[in-house]
Amino acid sequence: MSIVARNLIKEVGDPASRIISNINLVINDGEFISISGRSGSGKSTLLYLLSTLDQPTSGELIINEKQITTLSVEEIHHFRNKHLGFVFQFHYLLPELNAIENVLMPARKNNQIEEKTEYAHELFKIFDIENKKNKLPGQLSGGEQQRVAIARALIMKPSYLFADEPTGNLDSKNGNIVMNILKETNLHLKTTVILVTHEPEYSAMADREIILIDGVIKQNQTRKNTIKNISDKTKFKKTITKKKL
Ligand SMILES: Nc1ncnc2c1ncn2[C@@H]1O[C@H](COP(=O)(O)OP(=O)(O)O)[C@@H](O)[C@H]1O
Ligand SMILES: [Mg+2]
Repeated sequence: MSIVARNLIKEVGDPASRIISNINLVINDGEFISISGRSGSGKSTLLYLLSTLDQPTSGELIINEKQITTLSVEEIHHFRNKHLGFVFQFHYLLPELNAIENVLMPARKNNQIEEKTEYAHELFKIFDIENKKNKLPGQLSGGEQQRVAIARALIMKPSYLFADEPTGNLDSKNGNIVMNILKETNLHLKTTVILVTHEPEYSAMADREIILIDGVIKQNQTRKNTIKNISDKTKFKKTITKKKL
């Protein structure tokens, strides 16, 4: 299981301007990758290309040995629902649904509400938001909203979790909580995590750091010692364990 990008190029506008240039990248099963770079360097564009949310102008994307670039729109939707989870800077929770209904939304789409309900409750417990299940997103703090959004991203047990500056809208305490969740998800559920961040402290939690400059990979470096937990104060009451989930 891996993500392989070959000569990915993304051009926009007319005349065309190239915002992603010749990306060649392999992301292995179970890795935690960070993508860093200045604002406008192409981080989000690369993340969307790698996660099938955007289509390259040219090049190949192969996930789990499937040639994504040749799949139909329906096939890509199905593949995405089954294997990929997403977290963004803004939570995009549906305002009229309560927290647990939001988390179960992907299960609803897959006709798996019953099978996934227990897992949803477990995620609320682990993320320490058990008493927020029946609240509407508007009744939650920013940090709680983001934890609900992560639970929604994980409900289908995706192999890959893509996160675009998930801490960008949070204070440092809540940012740390979110980062610890991503790290534990990677360590214990073996979910491959691809994180866009411009916080050096957070990219230091990744196994490998990719730095983009003007749509080009300038650095692609494995770290020897990654930070396992950003601050003891934000440890979970319960640790995510494979057994529990
Ligand atoms: N659809 C688009 N049309 C035109 N320019 C775009 C489009 N998407 C992104 N860009 C430009 O491409 C560059 C990279 O954008 P982005 O991937 O959002 O960067 P980052 O996430 O690193 O801030 C920026 O200069 C941005 O303005
Ligand atoms: Mg961005």
